[in-house]
Amino acid sequence: MQDKLQAIEQEIRKQFDEDTTGHDWYHIERVRKMALHLQSKEGGDPVIVELAALLHDISDHKMNGGILNAGGKVAEELLKKYDFEQEIIQKVSSIIDKVSFKGLLVPDQMSTLEEKIVQDADRLDAIGAIGIARAFSFGGSKNRPMYQPDISPEEHTSFEQYANAKSHTINHFYEKLLHLKDRLHTDTAKKIGEQRHLVMEDYLKQFYIEWECKM
Ligand code: ADP
Ligand code: NI
Repeated sequence: MQDKLQAIEQEIRKQFDEDTTGHDWYHIERVRKMALHLQSKEGGDPVIVELAALLHDISDHKMNGGILNAGGKVAEELLKKYDFEQEIIQKVSSIIDKVSFKGLLVPDQMSTLEEKIVQDADRLDAIGAIGIARAFSFGGSKNRPMYQPDISPEEHTSFEQYANAKSHTINHFYEKLLHLKDRLHTDTAKKIGEQRHLVMEDYLKQFYIEWECKM
């Protein structure tokens, strides 16, 4: 098992090494580390958790040219190549299909503990200091303005609407990041999320002070 995990790690590392959208190898590595931490506190199958964390952003719509829901299938092919059991393949690819945020008014579908753990780990990396940095690098990589005060956030009701939106990065806080704290599943992640949420609130307060040139 360890050999297969290492081989998959190498493949993923190669694919994500050059990313400049906030989805680089270090994001994957942090999500794996956090997911295994959550698993150590909450339980669940560590093999499913680790594989799904490693593969969770494979063929994500934000990096594959906009194709929605492709990741599960791509992960399935990769795991087949390494002769994983059908049950493992099915559980991991199901996590990958469900893990992404799909819009403010689109409910999450995570049902098993492993699904919840991987989504929590991915979401914790989207908030706090690193979350702020990732949001602005993603925005920059997609040529999005940092902030346009006259363009208000939207409440997206479908994955298509959310994925096709092209608003400025400050709106992304109101359309997703500030809501993640309340959409975490496990108690361990909720505790970590609270502190990271406060970092974003403080950051935004300061952002508007400086935007208005208040002294
Ligand atoms: P998810 O699968 O839930 O989208 P990811 O690991 O793929 O999670 O990463 C999502 C990150 O991508 C966000 O936390 C944010 O940093 C960035 N991102 C996605 N959409 C936007 C956007 N419209 N503006 C700024 N950042 C974005
Ligand atoms: Ni991710």
